Formats: sequence, C-alpha cells, structure tokens
Amino acid sequence: MKATDLKIPFTFEERRPIILDRLLYVPSHYDKHDQFDQKISFPKEQKINVEYCSGNGEWIIDKAKKNPDINWIGVEKRFDRARKIWVKLHNNNISNLFVVLGEAEVFTKFYLQDKVISDIFINFPDPWPKRRHDKHRLFQDFFVLELRRVLLDAGQSTFVTDDPDTSDRMYQVMIKNGFKSLYENPHFTEELQGFGSSYFDRLWRDMGRRIRYLQFVKN
Ligand SMILES: C[S@@+](CC[C@H](N)C(=O)[O-])C[C@H]1O[C@@H](n2cnc3c(N)ncnc32)[C@H](O)[C@@H]1O
Repeated sequence: MKATDLKIPFTFEERRPIILDRLLYVPSHYDKHDQFDQKISFPKEQKINVEYCSGNGEWIIDKAKKNPDINWIGVEKRFDRARKIWVKLHNNNISNLFVVLGEAEVFTKFYLQDKVISDIFINFPDPWPKRRHDKHRLFQDFFVLELRRVLLDAGQSTFVTDDPDTSDRMYQVMIKNGFKSLYENPHFTEELQGFGSSYFDRLWRDMGRRIRYLQFVKN
C-alpha cells in the first residue's frame, strides 16, 4: 500500500463518511453523521481500545502488534498522519488496527455506542497554551462526558503530557465529569513501565522535559 492509494472519493462539498479499507473518514463541518449505517469491524471480536490524537501512529502500531488479542482504533484528524498509519497497518498486515481520519470529539459522539471501549489513551494532546485558544483544547466537559459514556464500567483512561498546565486541566476536567484518579496528589506518575513511546515522547525526552502519566477510572 502506498500513500497515494488512499483517496477520499469526493470533494469537500460532497463530503460524507466512508470506510475505505480499514479507515473511517469522518468529515468535519458536516451534519448528517446519524445517517451513516456502516460499522467499524475487525476480523476477531475482542475488546477494543482507542487512542486519540495518534499522530504518525508509532505508539498504537507498536501496541497493536504486541497485543493481538485487543482491537485498536487510532483517531487522528490530520489527513497526512492518518494516512501514514493506514499505510503502515496494511504494509505490516496488522488486522487488529483500524484508523479514523477525523476529530476525536465528532467520532466519539456519533460513531461509538455506549460502553464499548475498554481503555482510552491520549499521548501528548496539543496543549493550546493561550487563553484565547481555549475552545481548541480537547479536554472539555462535553468530550470527557462522551469518554465516560463510551467506556465500559471497568474501563481505564491514560493520558500522557509534558505540559503541566495540560496535566492540571486533564485532572480537573476528568474529576469534574465522573472520573477518579489512580494516583494520590499530585495525581500523576512520571514512570509507567512498559507504556511504550511515541514521536512526541522521544522529542520531549530528548529535550530534557519530564513526562506525566495520568490515569483514571469511572467514579
Ligand atoms: C502533539 S501531536 C501528538 C502525536 C502522537 N500522539 C505522539 O505522541 O507522537 C498531537 C496530535 O493530535 C492530533 N489532534 C489534535 N486535535 C485532535 C482532535 N480533536 N482529534 C483528533 N486528532 C487531533 C494532531 O493532528 C496531532 O497529530
């Protein structure tokens, strides 16, 4: 599979959701998500984990290869990055991995049923540090409530960041919306054995930044 093999077969004006060889395209600025009647499917029915903001997919590809008894969904809004994951999943024949090209919030709200996801992961969400960029931040009440809805009762969420403000925000929004932390104050750990690495994990570690892991379960 080559990058040029992924073609979204319509213009922006004619956009609609479509599944193309294990990639679900979820258009933005679109209001008919409820008319889509296909489902993400995997060769084996087994528990499903989701990673949002997958970037180039390094972390989730490694996880999917090492954990074939779990189905994995990687959600990434940038076409070039989602396409990279898609090319790698085909070229490495990773049948337990599915890519979603779309926004985390929209995909979760319209394409995931209640209590279907075992574990949720987010590695290095964009921090959007300026106050006027508030609305771009992923960690908002409505998104976290959606995470709560789609997670199984025993499900767990793990978030990774190098940014203390993002870490504080994640904690506040999660606690406010029905989750509890697995860690006592300061509510994160800097070591999580076997968690895996990603492009941004390496980038920030090489620059000497400290990494925080936050983990939550339903309250
Ligand atoms: C800082 S990068 C981290 C990438 C990867 N997780 C890593 O650790 O290398 C953040 C990624 O999140 C994606 N992203 C940001 N907001 C998103 C959203 N609302 N839905 C899906 N992807 C999003 C960006 O396009 C970008 O690829």
